[in-house]
Amino acid sequence: MVMLDEDDVSIVFGFARSYFHADLERVVEAVVFLRRLLPRKPLSELFTVLGRARQGKTERYRELARHLASSDDLFAHARGERGLVMICFTLPSLDVVFKLIRDRFPPVKNILRQDVLDKYQFVFRHDRAGRLVDAQEFKRVRLPRARFAPALLEELAAEAAESVHEDGDDLVFDHMYIERRMVPLNILLREADEATALRAVLDYGQAIRDLALSNVFAGDLLLKNFGVTRHGRVIFYDYDELCRVTDCRFRDVPQASNDEDEMRGETWFYVADNDVFPETFLNFLAFTDAQREAFLRAHGDLLTADFWRGLQRRLRAGDLLEVLPYQPRRIHAASSLGDPDAPDHR
Ligand SMILES: Nc1ncnc2c1ncn2[C@@H]1O[C@H](COP(=O)(O)OP(=O)(O)OP(=O)(O)O)[C@@H](O)[C@H]1O
Ligand SMILES: [Mg+2]
Repeated sequence: MVMLDEDDVSIVFGFARSYFHADLERVVEAVVFLRRLLPRKPLSELFTVLGRARQGKTERYRELARHLASSDDLFAHARGERGLVMICFTLPSLDVVFKLIRDRFPPVKNILRQDVLDKYQFVFRHDRAGRLVDAQEFKRVRLPRARFAPALLEELAAEAAESVHEDGDDLVFDHMYIERRMVPLNILLREADEATALRAVLDYGQAIRDLALSNVFAGDLLLKNFGVTRHGRVIFYDYDELCRVTDCRFRDVPQASNDEDEMRGETWFYVADNDVFPETFLNFLAFTDAQREAFLRAHGDLLTADFWRGLQRRLRAGDLLEVLPYQPRRIHAASSLGDPDAPDHR
C-alpha cells in the first residue's frame, strides 16, 4: 500500500486511532519527518500518535500557552447540546475542546465520577479503530480567568466547583480532558448541504460498524455524541455509556402477546442495564426520509439483534476483525467505478 495523498496519511496518523508503539530510538526525528508530510498537524498530536503520550501533553500545553499569548478571544461553551456529565468548552480560535466532569449528574445517568474516569481510561488503552477521539487527560491546568465568558464562569462555579478553583488571576482545573474539536453530527446535518449530510449519515453507520468490529458498543448513539472531522470522517466522543460489544445483551423487541401490553405507552417488558435493542436505534435520530432510506440500505443489518449476536460469537471465538485505516484499493478519482471514499463493508 502506497499513500500519496496528505489526507490519507493524515488519517493513518490521526487523533482517532490508537498510538503507534514503534520502538523509535529518537522520536523527535520521526516527528520532524512526519511534520514534513503533514504540515498542518500540531506537534503535540504527532508525539501522541507515536505513543509518547506524556511528550504529547507537554507539547499541547505549550501550544496552548503560545496560542493564548497571541489571541484574545474567550473560552465559551462548545456548540451543541449541553452534556449531562461533562461541561464542554472551547476557544473559538483553537480547534480543541476542554471537558470537565460535573460535580453531580442527573438521575438518568446512573453512574459515578469514577465510572466516567474508567471509561475514558478504557478508551485510552483500547483499539480506537479510527473512530474514537483521543482524549488527553490533564491534571492541574491553569488558565487566565479573564479569558472566560461570563456564562461559562457561572456554570463552572455552579456545577464543577469541586474540580476548579480560583488562584489569583487564574482558574486552576484539577482534572480535565482535552480533545480535538469537530462539528457535532447533529449540527452538521442541520447546516450542511444535502450531499455532505448524506455522506455523514452513511459514515455514521460505518463508525458504529468499525467500533463494533473492535468490540466497542458506543452506548449512546445519538447524533450529538458524534463529530465530523475536516476529512468528513465521523468520530465518537461521548464515552460515559460506552462498553464492550461482548458485555451487552442484544435483544429483539419482544412481541406483545395481548392488546393491553401493546397499548401501553412505555416499555412493558423488563429491561436490564446492559440490554440493547438494535431495532430501536433509528427511532431517536432526526434523519430525513432520504437519509433514513440510505442508512437502511447501507447499514440495515446494524438494526438487527442478529447482527450483533453474530459479531459477539466471532469476537468471543477470537476472530481478528481488522478495521483498516485506509481504503484497501484506490480507485482513480475520475473513474466512474464509484466513490473511493464510500464506506467499505465487511
Ligand atoms: N470533540 C468535540 N468536538 C466538538 N464538540 C464537542 C466535542 N466533545 C463534546 N462536544 C460538544 O459537547 C456536547 C457534550 O459533550 P459529551 O457528549 O462528551 O458530554 P456528555 O456529558 O457525556 O453528554 P451526554 O449528556 O450525552 O452523556 C456534545 O454533544 C457536543 O455538542
Ligand atoms: Mg453527549
